[in-house]
Amino acid sequence: MSNLVVIGTQWGDEGKGKIVDLLSAEADTIVRFQGGHNAGHTLVIGDQVFKLSLLPSGIIRNNKIAVIGNGVVLDPWKLLEEIEQLNSRGIKVSSDRLIISENTPLILPFHKDLDLLREQKAGSEKIGTTGRGIGPAYEDKVGRRALRTGDLKDINEVKRKLNVIKAHHNILRAGLGAPCIDEEELFNELMTVAKKINDFIKPVWKLLNDQIAKNKNILFEGAQGSMLDVDFGTYPFVTSSSTNAAAAAFGSGIAHNKINSVLGITKAYTTRVGEGPMPTELFDDIGQHLAEEGNEKGTVTGRDRRCGWFDAPIVRRSCLLNGVTSLALTKIDVLDRLEKIKICVGYRVGKEEFSDFPITTSLANRLTPIYEEIDGWNSSTVGLEKIDQMPTKARAYIQRIEELTESKISIVSTGPERNQTIFITNPF
Ligand code: GDP
Ligand code: IMO
Ligand code: MG
Repeated sequence: MSNLVVIGTQWGDEGKGKIVDLLSAEADTIVRFQGGHNAGHTLVIGDQVFKLSLLPSGIIRNNKIAVIGNGVVLDPWKLLEEIEQLNSRGIKVSSDRLIISENTPLILPFHKDLDLLREQKAGSEKIGTTGRGIGPAYEDKVGRRALRTGDLKDINEVKRKLNVIKAHHNILRAGLGAPCIDEEELFNELMTVAKKINDFIKPVWKLLNDQIAKNKNILFEGAQGSMLDVDFGTYPFVTSSSTNAAAAAFGSGIAHNKINSVLGITKAYTTRVGEGPMPTELFDDIGQHLAEEGNEKGTVTGRDRRCGWFDAPIVRRSCLLNGVTSLALTKIDVLDRLEKIKICVGYRVGKEEFSDFPITTSLANRLTPIYEEIDGWNSSTVGLEKIDQMPTKARAYIQRIEELTESKISIVSTGPERNQTIFITNPF
């Protein structure tokens, strides 16, 4: 038995979806444990492209169980849309292989309204959220008024809770100039949705612990990345969940000591969508080159991703915070045509030097990266499947990343497809 957690070590979009899809072959069950449909995980399988936001990437393989845990915030309409999309492409999502936790908080339409209204009013202080209602839904969870999946099976409970949550949101909405919630309409819509999703809702904690007892392999699929973590990310320019590997336990209902390994996904350079500090961001031709070669457009919102050099201190810290046992280095092929490649090894503010990324954002905003420069390899690594096929200079880059992040690389990804992958060691 081996349970592996996959997390992003940067600001998201590191290629988690591709790696999770690949590793799903060795897992019995694949679990989403935090975030919601702010995530956008792209899988390329032959000539087919799948973009998943809410469903675990393992769902694509017909013989796997996919689980949505209590740590996720779930938009039931978006869920049905995603299920429908897969069904229409021949991937059957039935209630014997998609299991949703009973205590998963729901994202309702007024959460999305609040997210968008606040961003509009914030002007230059905006976060650049995905506008999916993620933050407001988590607020209601910790505010102890969320409607949860399990409530959908009890009409009276839905009515009672809607009444409570509506009162709270109507006050907020009035302050933002939005009309009151139409409770009756929402109740009716929820009843329609409930009929379609109630069969999926089961005690996930029990299922997963039974599977552990049977020595099954569970793969936990993180969303976002360590630098978007609500505690250790670039607060307030973060998402509203804990993206840490430990969240796989409390976001699904297994004990933390049942996690055996943690695979950190790391892009060979850095990207970020939305506002907030990013010391290695490039505003020149090289930044443009990375964006074009890497096709760096957001999966969820279509926004351009900000691109820059590899930032080693942030990945080193992510490895420590998450207990990373090995790294998967993705998109190395995007660097193929660069003459020189820089790696950020620390930061400077005035005369002061920092070896670690600071926690306070006001300081993080003022960092100038300290770079090391290496020669590019100037040849194609696209699709390589063996490490000894890698150009010597690319291997030197990989080795330098291992040294600077104080972590071992178990996988190198050389393209979006399943077979465009080098396995050095087994991350499970
Ligand atoms: P996630 O959110 O971490 O799952 O990452 P996204 O799916 O949002 O973004 C990663 C993008 O890079 C996707 O379009 C992938 O198909 C693509 N991708 C993944 N690995 C590689 C790779 O090694 N090389 C290249 N060129 N593209 C990759
Ligand atoms: P995956 O799983 C990249 C960013 C948003 C914004 C901030 C807060 O595909 O890596 P939110 O809507 O969560 O309140 O937005 O977080 N963000 C992501 N950036 N990849 C993601 O997911 C993201 N999910 C949220 O752009 O800056
Ligand atoms: Mg993504």
